[in-house]
Amino acid sequence: MHKRTEELIKSDAEYIIHPWYMVGQNSGIVFEKSRGVYLVDTEGMEYIDMASGNCCCNLGHGRREIIDAVTKAINETDFTTAFFGHSNVYAIECSKRLARLTPGTLKHFHFTSGGSEAVDTALKTARLYWSNQGQAGKYKIISLYDSYHGASGFSAYVTGSGQGAFQNAFGPAPAGLIRIPSFYCYRCTYGLSYPACDVRCARILEDVIQAEGSNSVAAFIAEPMIGGGGFFEPPMEWWQIIRDICQQYQVLLIADEILSGFARTGKMFGLENWAIEPDMMAMSKGINGAYLPFGAMAISDKVYQSLKGTIFSQGFTYCGHAVSAAAACAALDIYVKDRVVENVVKVGNHVKQRLEAEFSPLPCVGNIGGMGLNYALELVENKNTKKPIDPATKKELVQNLLGNGIYTRIIGRLGNRLHIGPPCTITVDEADKALDIIQPLVARLKF
Ligand SMILES: Cc1ncc(COP(=O)(O)O)c(C=O)c1O
Repeated sequence: MHKRTEELIKSDAEYIIHPWYMVGQNSGIVFEKSRGVYLVDTEGMEYIDMASGNCCCNLGHGRREIIDAVTKAINETDFTTAFFGHSNVYAIECSKRLARLTPGTLKHFHFTSGGSEAVDTALKTARLYWSNQGQAGKYKIISLYDSYHGASGFSAYVTGSGQGAFQNAFGPAPAGLIRIPSFYCYRCTYGLSYPACDVRCARILEDVIQAEGSNSVAAFIAEPMIGGGGFFEPPMEWWQIIRDICQQYQVLLIADEILSGFARTGKMFGLENWAIEPDMMAMSKGINGAYLPFGAMAISDKVYQSLKGTIFSQGFTYCGHAVSAAAACAALDIYVKDRVVENVVKVGNHVKQRLEAEFSPLPCVGNIGGMGLNYALELVENKNTKKPIDPATKKELVQNLLGNGIYTRIIGRLGNRLHIGPPCTITVDEADKALDIIQPLVARLKF
């Protein structure tokens, strides 16, 4: 290792506290450059980015159009406020482009600096909606175990993955947050099998709303497919059942499209896979390909009309930041111009076929979940008992992957789901190159 890298790693350990990592430690990798689907560290080692950073670099790295748009914007302006009703040209341009892509009447936006802020804003807006209808008692929010919605005040408490890690030690939760089991079919909470289960995990929502009293439930929030909680998709009927229950009991449906949105699942937005239109949407990550911090809440006409003419008592300093919005304008143009959704379908189908043909038969692969270009392999010691691989094996596999030029992570409820989620712009050849490296490393796991 070069002296420079050694010093950087030492300084990092001394000064930087990493998210979800042992304080005072780091991974020993310092990234320095990124281009296309590749990341390069300070040792000059190249890695194929099989996790799209944090599943956010949907357009790959080093896109000239985005870099130019950001450079142009920052030469013109830096920060001007969105408070006091002021606006900037890039935020307006961005909202017009978004409105051309979002489904149905979800054409009204509030910008944020990231995903957690978008989720917090959506949850507060749902409560505001009911309060404006004279029903302030309708404040409860239902979410899913295995979900990940963020790390800020509200979003951390509706997050259901992590077995309490996101909430414990941070004091009492805000009131009125309820979690129900998710659609993790491989480890069904009810011990049932699809389709004989009659999608119990969706129908339970009705039982919970009835038990709580529908006049106390403001909203239900879920990701179109589970992301950071393990990358798996719901059974086909799940979303329609959920939509119908929300409709019947007058519960707002909030789609957390932060990870699923922007081509990731093979549609521009995840819920389009089931032709479901939510009342509200949280977006971030792919919105500008993660070139700068940015996010948004989108609301339907119904919700917008209830707010119109009232003060929107929510907002962050960097709301609608011009330079982040300029990056989003360029990114949104790329999604359309380069037909990124079509690429996800083409490469995603190819990746899925290879996962099923070459990984599924391996004794340590218990389950393959996901859709579009967002998959996970569940690694187990034994397919019958479904015992997850142990932490030492997991650590060794991650090291072997890195050592062979693959960047990804192993996460999920039991920390044993290997993420395969490259940029949505990856080619078949690049995906093949990565899978050719990953397959033998997974195949040689022995217990
Ligand atoms: C589905 C989902 N919601 C919310 C968030 C939180 O976003 P952020 O980390 O930008 O606050 C994430 C981040 O991974 C996410 O995947």
